Amino acid sequence: MTRDSLITLDSVWRGAHVATMKGGQYSIIENAAIGVRGGRIVWIGKAHDLPAYQTQHEHDLGGGWITPGLIDCHTHLVFGGNRAGEFEQRLNGVSYQDIAKQGGGIASSVRATREASEAELVASALRRLKSLMADGVTTVEIKSGYGLSLDSELKMLRVAGKLGDEWPVTIKRTCLAAHAMPPEFDDKDAYIDYLCEKVLPKVAQLGMADAVDAFCEGIAFSTEQVARYFRTAESLGLPVKIHAEQLSSLGGTAMASSFKALSADHIEFIEESDVKAMAESGTVAVLLPGAFFTLKETQRPPIALLRQYGVPMAIATDANPGTSPALSLRLMMNMACTLFALTPEEALAGATIHAAKALGMADSHGSLEIGKVADFVCWQVDSPGELSYWLGGDLVKTRVYEGKQSDGKNSQGSNRLGKNSQGEPA
Ligand code: NIG
Ligand code: FE
Repeated sequence: MTRDSLITLDSVWRGAHVATMKGGQYSIIENAAIGVRGGRIVWIGKAHDLPAYQTQHEHDLGGGWITPGLIDCHTHLVFGGNRAGEFEQRLNGVSYQDIAKQGGGIASSVRATREASEAELVASALRRLKSLMADGVTTVEIKSGYGLSLDSELKMLRVAGKLGDEWPVTIKRTCLAAHAMPPEFDDKDAYIDYLCEKVLPKVAQLGMADAVDAFCEGIAFSTEQVARYFRTAESLGLPVKIHAEQLSSLGGTAMASSFKALSADHIEFIEESDVKAMAESGTVAVLLPGAFFTLKETQRPPIALLRQYGVPMAIATDANPGTSPALSLRLMMNMACTLFALTPEEALAGATIHAAKALGMADSHGSLEIGKVADFVCWQVDSPGELSYWLGGDLVKTRVYEGKQSDGKNSQGSNRLGKNSQGEPA
């Protein structure tokens, strides 16, 4: 064989089985090899079928299972302070609503987030981000929504961008300015006007968000108010997603589907007509078992209907200081199985390919296929179902981000694909 007929690779990994998650199923390749060039997968299959190649790096994994890097598609990872005190209050019988009435809840996180410097927000969010990364996460969506003013929303989005620029993890940013009412406003319509006139146009102009989100609920914004905010997002070319039907059924999910929302999240209270609307618009159902568990909810999302209509189900941590102080996506996979009766295969699809779809990035991420970004994890497990079985534990053997090994704990990201998501200073 001549040198010219060799395929040229940067790295090859072999010595493990692969669950590719193509099509939302395990799609197993036993005794596999993965060849990577330029941060992308250029060859994947059975190791004994690998054609002749030359490579810079050859890795023998020595057993285990490879899956796509996990994708946490719904987090509020950037915030000031924390609400452990409120957790104690709730354990002593004070309700989430009463805490909010006393100026706690989201409002207390807004105060702490506004007061914190960018450096403080980066440092506290980084500790949480490292927990996710060490547990196999390679992409994280981070929402704003604890700023609720132009400057402080931009501050949160800048912090999120900085994390992605400096660490080996892809950060997708979502502007959740319609999360709650800021103290300066007492009229919800006036606040929505401010978001449509001042906040969303600036966020779009600076390129500081990949999507726009809103909390549609009696304690937040109405379906009409969110629709107005979404129309502005749409006119600015930003895709939308929604927190909807978490505590009651207001019609937010169906309304968001009419905007072809990337995802509708929480959705414990959706009905068959909502599920149909999601199926038609290609909207992903993002299940958040951490918030369901923390709030001791009893109404489960209608999993059987979502399956029946073929709506993809993603799973996320909803990591936030109030309703879901969750820092392990694998624990959420377990909870999706135990609390919502997903199968471990559905749970893994929910944290990979369906999560990628919820972020509008399924063409490049979420499954292991030729042409996709080489984000994957080799786990110390005997079957992929084990990822949903263990409650915690250190299962990551090797984490590969954009074609380079990085454990996600202390490696500063030298392996970027050359993006800069910072936006200019406000
Ligand atoms: O996704 N549902 C609304 N927002 C967050 C909770 C925010 C908070 O309590 O700080 C959620 O659960
Ligand atoms: Fe949330």
